[in-house]
Amino acid sequence: MSVKHEYRPVYQTSLVDPAEFWTTAAEAIDWDVAPTQIIDTNARPVARWFPDARLNTSFNALDRHVLGDAEGAGSRAEQPALIYDSAMTGARGVYTYAELLREVSIFAGAMRRLGVTTGDRVVIYLPMIPEAVIAMLACARIGAVHSVVFGGFAAPELAARIDDAEPVLIITASGGLEPHRKIEYPPIVLRALEIAETNAPRAVIVKQRKQFQTINFPAPQEATESLPSSSETIAARWLDWDDAILDAEPADPVSVAATDPLYILYTSGTTGKPKGVVRDNGGHAVALAWSMTNIYDVGPGQVMWAASDVGWVVGHSYIVYAPLLVGATTLLYEGKPVGTPDAGAFWRVVAEHKVRVLFTAPTALRAIRKADAEATLASQHDLSSLRALFCAGERLDPATYEWASTTLLAHRPDCPVVDHWWQTETGWPICANPLGLQPLPIKSGSSSVPVPGFRLRVLDAEGNPVPANTEGNIVVGLPLPPGALTGLWQDEPRFVRSYMSAFPGHYLTGDSGYFDDDGYLFVLGRSDDVINMAGHRLSAGSIEAAISGHPAVAECAVIGLADELKGQRPVAYVVLKEGGEFADIAPERLREELTVLVREQIGPIAALHDAIIVSALPKTRSGKILRKTIRQITAGEDYDIPSTIEDPAVLVALADQILSGRTPIAPIPSSSDADPATPA
Ligand code: COA
Ligand code: AMP
Repeated sequence: MSVKHEYRPVYQTSLVDPAEFWTTAAEAIDWDVAPTQIIDTNARPVARWFPDARLNTSFNALDRHVLGDAEGAGSRAEQPALIYDSAMTGARGVYTYAELLREVSIFAGAMRRLGVTTGDRVVIYLPMIPEAVIAMLACARIGAVHSVVFGGFAAPELAARIDDAEPVLIITASGGLEPHRKIEYPPIVLRALEIAETNAPRAVIVKQRKQFQTINFPAPQEATESLPSSSETIAARWLDWDDAILDAEPADPVSVAATDPLYILYTSGTTGKPKGVVRDNGGHAVALAWSMTNIYDVGPGQVMWAASDVGWVVGHSYIVYAPLLVGATTLLYEGKPVGTPDAGAFWRVVAEHKVRVLFTAPTALRAIRKADAEATLASQHDLSSLRALFCAGERLDPATYEWASTTLLAHRPDCPVVDHWWQTETGWPICANPLGLQPLPIKSGSSSVPVPGFRLRVLDAEGNPVPANTEGNIVVGLPLPPGALTGLWQDEPRFVRSYMSAFPGHYLTGDSGYFDDDGYLFVLGRSDDVINMAGHRLSAGSIEAAISGHPAVAECAVIGLADELKGQRPVAYVVLKEGGEFADIAPERLREELTVLVREQIGPIAALHDAIIVSALPKTRSGKILRKTIRQITAGEDYDIPSTIEDPAVLVALADQILSGRTPIAPIPSSSDADPATPA
């Protein structure tokens, strides 16, 4: 790997002269109207990047690679753009850039024929099939704003997103495939539309899959008259994907402002209501293109595989947009790291498709290690194409790093295992080892150094910078770089409250950690009530809301405890209502019913680990539950009785109950209390 620039001076330039830095980076994008202004810092609460520029993201991801340069040289029309590999069905497929462009243009034309136009929202609720990528890029093509919802979310979570985004169209499939289970999506969409309070979308398009019973939709011309009765009031038309695209005119890319929204992606905050993170077009394209070259070191023609789901930010950025923006080949994998069929699944895919960079979550590596500790299955595949294994979603714990670098990749000293830290909000890494720029020494447990554009600081609760090796709140000095969120969908007050108000002039990441003497960041965990389970971000508040729906429950507190495989697991402390038919409910029955309830309300990914009945929950005088203290007691850590406590006797009673009846569970590195905006 050749060293093109040194990291330090590049990082310094990005902070001292962001306009200069991002002007150069913006050259990687084809603009309809090139930016003359790089950043508008007068905009509040965040800067707007490239405010006078115009572009189309799908043109940059597809058309320009097919067209090549002015003479047509350098066309990538016949190069694979998207490889599809399903461990669930055995299907394999390749879309060249020309083919993907054709599919995207036609689907964009079909959406336009249905009346979808620039600025309209489109909810995409699809499994890991190529149509997910096609639908997202087709939205980008006509300037519609997509909002992809992860297939593991249940109807109420889908409904919450529909209510907030108010889509004119929903795109779904006949179902998704999980090991030993088929999940039909149309009933979930129907249920979500019944729950949702907003106006019904004009249409629902359904991609039918061979693995599911064929649904007989009315032919397009008679669709409005002959809907199934249950759906009459909740969407004007239900259409088969193939009917929707029949004879559709391919749509040309629409020029949008760089600051126009490309997508909304909902993520868990500390309350039950998800946050609609808004991403723009211009800053996003520039930042992602820069990251491909300088962080991942992946360029045109090379294969990048982000083994995530398109429903998460990693899927948006590194399955769909970033690889295509730079003319690389992306890989869409439907399957698991283990059990489909075994713990060699990832290595088969790497070998078969000559993957250069694999991006996965530590929990997936732990699952593989558990099933194949000696990495015997990995050794059966040719992994020589692999140049780096990137991890994110949670901290790459030292034990997993050690295993991956010494056992899994024992014979590959040239293939680093790289932890990098980011969030749905930032859209791309905040801290990383910038392999394309200058590979730096790796320190186990650290996500390495701040990425250019991110002015990182670690502050104490009063907002003062803490010395090296001291834990505090990790914040980013404003302006946030291009690609980071530009707001929360139609909720600026929440945006300011959640991210901008704790430390004026800074974005609050919600994570705590410390810098070491060499400027390496160690992220230790969330300082709020976000739970990270198997790389899925869940809010304690939404699990509590689901539990509160049980007729026996008066109030509850959910905390995340350390879990060897999944990182964290949710545990609920429940106070029962006095009197009534459930006052004497058996703990075992309550646990079972709450587990089912959480699964129904949030989805199968929110697996409640335990529910413990207590007589009262410790609170502050202002009524906030002391989750941090409960977590410390449960984990067997030392704890102080907070000065703001309402009734210390409640805490003492809870501690007695926990410590007398339960074995302490391994502590997790996290801090802070109930208030979402209260730093550690
Ligand atoms: N649709 C429907 N159900 C889903 C689903 C989806 N898209 N994804 C997961 N589920 C279900 C699973 O089938 C499982 O159901 P079950 O309880 O009936 O068995 C449940 O949700 C729990 O799923 P999960 O916690 O993911 O466990 P798992 O055993 O299915 O998989 C891992 C474990 C580690 C392989 C998986 O969690 C993983 O790959 N995580 C990484 C996530 C990620 O990429 N995050 C982004 C950051 S990089
Ligand atoms: P999400 O928005 O779902 O990507 O989750 C973001 C959160 O996951 C962060 O705020 C962190 O708490 C955690 N996270 C992601 N990547 C890392 C990492 N490399 N190290 C530590 N925590 C991480």
